[in-house]
Order: sequence, then C-alpha cells, then structure tokens
Amino acid sequence: MPITYRPITLDEFDEFDFAVMRGFSAHPESNPWFKDFARRSFEPEQSVIAFDGKQMVGTSSSLTFEISIPGANTLPVGGITEVTVSPTHRRRGILTEMMRRQLDAHHEREIPLAALWASESVIYGRYGYGMAVTHEHREIDLRHTSFTHGPDIRGQMRFLDKEDAQAVFSPILERAWLEYPAMIRRDNLAWEAAITDPDGLRSRAPALFYAVYEIDGVATGYVMYRIRHGVTAGDSTNSVQIHELVASDDEATAALWRFCFDIDLASTLTVGHGATTDDGLPWMLSDPRRLKRSSYDGLWLRLIDVPMALSARTYSEDASLVIRVEDSFCKWNEGNWRIDGGPKGAECASTNEQPDISMSAGDLASIYMGGSRPSELARAGRVIENSVGALGRADRMFITARKPWNLVDF
Ligand SMILES: CC(C)(COP(=O)(O)OP(=O)(O)OC[C@H]1O[C@@H](n2cnc3c(N)ncnc32)[C@H](O)[C@@H]1OP(=O)(O)O)[C@@H](O)C(=O)NCCC(=O)NCCS
Repeated sequence: MPITYRPITLDEFDEFDFAVMRGFSAHPESNPWFKDFARRSFEPEQSVIAFDGKQMVGTSSSLTFEISIPGANTLPVGGITEVTVSPTHRRRGILTEMMRRQLDAHHEREIPLAALWASESVIYGRYGYGMAVTHEHREIDLRHTSFTHGPDIRGQMRFLDKEDAQAVFSPILERAWLEYPAMIRRDNLAWEAAITDPDGLRSRAPALFYAVYEIDGVATGYVMYRIRHGVTAGDSTNSVQIHELVASDDEATAALWRFCFDIDLASTLTVGHGATTDDGLPWMLSDPRRLKRSSYDGLWLRLIDVPMALSARTYSEDASLVIRVEDSFCKWNEGNWRIDGGPKGAECASTNEQPDISMSAGDLASIYMGGSRPSELARAGRVIENSVGALGRADRMFITARKPWNLVDF
C-alpha cells in the first residue's frame, strides 16, 4: 500500500503523541506533563504525517517562532519538531518526503527560515540544513580554581520562589535576546517549559533553585541551577548544575558566575547550552585549565528564502559580494545572489555577475548567523573562493559581535 501524507487535527493528537514517543523509544505514559505541554504547543495545520493505510508511520510538525538575526533584527522561523518514522518503516524515504512537504509549505507561507535540534548530526545536511549554533558542555573543578577576575560587582543576589521566577526573568532575557543571533524568542509556553522543571523530565535530579542579580532595584541577570548531592570519604562532593544563566550586561554575567563559585560544599560545576560560550568565563578564573570544554551542535538552520534571509540581516563591513548558492533540495534558491550590505542594512538580489564565492545552501546557513567563518568552511573544501580576496571580505562581512546562542528547546 502506498504511503500517504496529510496534516492531522487535534482530535488525532493522542495517536500522534504515541507515535512520536515510540519513535524516540519512550512511552507516552512516562511523562504526563510533557504530553499535556506538547498538546498545548502543537499546531495541527503545520503537521506533515505519513500513513500506511490507517496506521501513522511518520510524524513531523512545525512551531511558529521568531528568531533573532545579526543586526538586532528578527525573522519568522518554522521550528521543525516531533520528527519520527516508525521502526517498522525506516529507510524507505518517508523522512525525505516529510521534509520535502514541510519546506514547500513554509515556502508557500513565505516563512524564510526553518530550524531544528537534530537527534543525530548526520541526518539534516542532505535537506540543506547547516549547523548554525555551537554550544559547549563546560565542567569546572571548583576545588582547584576560583573566581578572581571580573568587573566591579555592585549589586546583590536574591532567591526567588518558582512562581515568581518568570515575571522577573523574562524582561532580562527580553533585553538580552537580540544581542545574540539565532536565539528563538521565548513565549509564555516556552517559559513554562523552562521553569516548571517537572519530575518526569529530570531523571530524579533535585529541583531547581531560582536566583536573580539586582542593582539599584533593577534585575539584570538570573540563574537557575540544581545541586546533585554527593559525599566521598566524609567530604561533600556536590555538583552545581547550571540550567540557565542569562545576563543583560557584563557586570551581571560576572556576578552570576561568582555567585555559583561561592556555593559551599560543591566540588564541580557544570553547564551546557544554558549559558553563552562567549561570556569570558575562562578569563575570570585563577586556574583556567580547570575549566574543561567540549563543544556540540545546537540549532540547525535552513534558509528557505535565500534573498529574504540575506537582505534581512546586517553585515559588519560595508561591502558587496556575489554568492553562488547550490541548492538541489529547494531549487528556487539556486543561482548567483548579490549582497550590498553593511552595518545599517542590506539588499540582496539575483544577478548574472560572476560569483565571488560559491557554497551550498547548508553551508550558507552555517555562516548566516556568524557562528562559523566562510574561510573555515573553505579550509574544509565546502566554500570556494572564485575571486581573489573574496573570502576575507566574506569573513569580515558575516562576522557578528556575539556568538549565536539559543536557549529554547523544542
Ligand atoms: C531519523 C529518522 C526520522 C529517519 O527516517 P527515515 O524515513 O528512515 O529516513 P529516510 O528513509 O527518508 O532517509 C533519508 C536518508 O537519510 C539517511 N538517514 C536517515 N536516518 C539516518 C540516521 N539515523 N543515520 C544515518 N543516516 C540516516 C538514510 O540512509 C537516507 O540516505 P540517502 O538519502 O543517502 O538514501 C528515523 O530513523 C527515526 O525516527 N529515528 C529516531 C527518531 C529521531 O532521531 N528523529 C529525528 C529527530 S531530530
């Protein structure tokens, strides 16, 4: 029987949820909070579901978000999620067909970008996605280093009850998010997911603490963290696990880190994508070698409408550049695109001029937010310099003041 594809309605959510959970090797009953949350965030008309007869054998959906892009601008983005194919139907092209239909539908609705978190980094390059954000898992041995450098810390930390956290934290993130390219705007539902910390999602870990940094009554930074307890031969070996650390200026960033270092009875501190990687942390430490870092890919990005995306961001240097884009999955992007841009804005249009540099749509997505430089990709043979000096110009144009960062999981 041929596989058919259609969106589903909310009435079919239970079957959808079961298929998604099974696709990820979990049972829906294992996490009722998450099921309820997924139902409330689900946009049924954006779903692309595969059926074998009446049986749901493939799932995918998209959430409508706003994402920050370089120049403190924003664009609409489709957050692709709940992508699974039943173990009974894998490697028959069902994912490829769902991706085809998702991207066509977004293009028709004039959504210029799609983004996703990939379960495996080998999957989405073939559909024109590129790694746009790189995060770090950081682990600090607190017994052998200390916080020694930072701007003057004039304010004060204060603990909050969970119920009060969103009201105090959200204006801080709202002030910070446009500084970082690739950050998905956190709406009320996403805040609920970040703060609720339900039992079923934390594998028996202790609950979160919520604390804010204030100066002259204004909250400029917050941290959410939990402590895993441990004792070894009578010594406390607690681990401070930072869930999220966000500040709207450098003083608050340093204040939050110092606060975390001052937590007694702890021997290690860990953090993942809940903190930006360009916060200067290694430079705050007496012994920076005690900070161990390993990087991993975060948000993957797809430019669905290349000229719309390239003209919406700003560029760090006033210049022009013609880019040849290869895009076999979204043919409408293929061609030579001329950017005339600078710090104040940009225009991008199709051109017959010879290209200065050439690359795939996925590689363009990887440099779009400023997370990787065109010259790095050129070293891997992924970007080709067609006219002398163009690579350096592209590096200078695409670079951003802050590294891309995204906090919203979906
Ligand atoms: C990942 C998944 C959705 C792929 O579905 P699928 O229908 O088997 O994929 P397709 O048959 O359309 O495969 C398309 C291509 O991707 C490749 N591919 C798909 N999944 C892959 C994987 N996990 N590892 C390596 N290659 C993979 C296929 O080999 C095929 O390659 P080709 O184009 O060279 O022939 C499915 O394996 C799955 O549900 N996995 C568990 C849940 C998951 O990880 N979902 C992704 C969430 S981000």
